[in-house]
This record gives sequence, C-alpha cells and structure tokens, in this order.
Amino acid sequence: MDEKMEEKNNQSEDVKIKEATGVKSIPFAVIAVGIIVFAYIFMRYIVQPPFPATLTNFFMMFILAGVLLHITLDEKKIEDIMLFFSFTKKEPMPWDIVRYSVVVIVPLLIASNVYSAYKVTYAPPAELFSPHVTPPEWVVNMKVPEYAVDPNKWESKYIEEGRLIYEDNCVPCHGKDADGKGPMASAITYPASPTNFKEAGTIAQLPITYVYWRVKDGGITDKQFKSAMPGWEEELSEDDMWRVIMYTYTKAGVKPRTWAE
Ligand code: HEC
Repeated sequence: MDEKMEEKNNQSEDVKIKEATGVKSIPFAVIAVGIIVFAYIFMRYIVQPPFPATLTNFFMMFILAGVLLHITLDEKKIEDIMLFFSFTKKEPMPWDIVRYSVVVIVPLLIASNVYSAYKVTYAPPAELFSPHVTPPEWVVNMKVPEYAVDPNKWESKYIEEGRLIYEDNCVPCHGKDADGKGPMASAITYPASPTNFKEAGTIAQLPITYVYWRVKDGGITDKQFKSAMPGWEEELSEDDMWRVIMYTYTKAGVKPRTWAE
C-alpha cells in the first residue's frame, strides 16, 4: 500500500520536473505524421464501409496540404521538423525510434501504394457492370397497355402467348425455367451472364416499364450496358414484348415493382 503511494508521488514528481524544465512532450513532426497516418487508417479501416481508395487519396491530398501549410506558416515549426529529421540531433530514446521508423516506413508505405496502384491485375473490376441504372425519361412516363398494368389480372391467354415467344427467343440464354441457365448461358459471362429472373435483385425489383426498355433496347448497342442481351425492337411487336414480359414474371414467380414504391 505504502509502496504504491510512493510510486504515485514519484510519478507526479517526474511530471512536475518535466513541466518545470520545459521538456517538450511530443515533437511536432510526430504529431504531423500521426495526423496523416491516422487520417489514412481512419478512412481505409475504421469508417465502415471504408472510403474507396480514390476518394481516400483525394482527401489525403487535402490533409497533406493542410499539414504542410500549417508547418510552413511558422518558421519555428519548420526548424523543429528539420531538426527532428536531421540525424545529428539527439532526441530521447523513444522519439529516436519513432524518428527512424518514420524515415523508413513512410517511404515504404508510399512505395507500396504506388505499386498496388500500377500493378496489373487480371481480375475484372468489380464495378464494371451495373445492371440497374437510371432509365431514359420515356421509360418512366410511358403508358403500359391496359392488359399488362395489373399483375393480379394478367390473363392466361396473354401469358400463354408470352410463353411461346419466350421459348422461341429467350430460352437459349435465360433458360427454360427463367433461371439464367439456358444452353448458351455458360458461354456468356462478360460483362454479365444472362439474368436469373428468379433472383431477388433482378426483375422483381424493377418496374415493368424498365423491363420493357431492357427487352426493347437490349444491351449490345446501348452504351450503358454493352452486354450480350439482344434488343428485340425489330424482332418482336410491342404486344409481343409485353406478353413475353408477363410470361417471364409469371415463370419466375415474381411481380414487377411500381415506380412509386
Ligand atoms: C444472347 C443471349 C440472350 C438472349 C437470347 C436474351 N437475353 Fe436477356 N439478357 C442477356 C444477358 C447477358 C443479360 C444480362 C446483361 C444485361 O442486363 O444487359 C440479360 C438481361 C435481361 C434483362 C434485364 C434483367 C435485369 O435484371 O436488369 C431482361 C428483362 C431480359 N434479359 C429479358 C430477355 C427476354 C424477354 C428475352 C427474350 C425475348 C431475352 N432476354 C433474350 C442475354 C440474353
């Protein structure tokens, strides 16, 4: 008990001496480097989800510029930094370690960043294909034929007509069961495989006019998609396209979304 108290007293003595003799606590260079390193770690690893690399680099430029500006505004700080990194100066032991590691680690970090930025990778970039984009204006405002408006009132004769059109035209890629596993599907993977319409993220999440647009214009000529999905405007009449869409939804067992939802 007594020993502990004594220790505590000694510690505060230490602090007092430091304050009295004006020993600087943390060299400014360490703070500057700390800010920069922390900002980077914060953006890349602490914030969830982490910032994308390009955005991080963008912000890092401002943070670097800010720190440099702050340093160069004050001659004393410039001097401090120069001194800190000039190996002639004797800093207390722990700072010496920090000093050496900064001089070694920072260039290494930059080098590894540059390396990974220019490294050639063979994996296609993840964000290359974005299946759902803002459609053209006419798609949002277009009128859906009366018989196709309400999925609960779709007549089976239209759906049956749609089935024939689907089997003639869509099965090779999207498959008999609308699951994206047609006989041609395995050959088409880039930039996207034929859609599995049963999957939650596909037509079930799309308004029917959006799907109409995709069937009509396809993905080959459309700059937005550049996919293997053919446009059917020449091949099928408007009624054919509505019917095949009705069948596709029915076969997949899902319903279109409405724009308002
Ligand atoms: C040559 C193969 C091929 C044929 C034939 C084909 N598609 Fe596609 N389709 C694709 C591919 C690949 C995609 C995924 C890329 C895209 O969205 O552009 C796709 C996407 C779609 C989408 C968009 C789905 C979404 O979630 O965004 C719809 C709707 C669609 N097809 C309907 C049809 C219909 C209806 C037919 C028949 C009239 C048909 N497709 C025939 C290859 C094909």
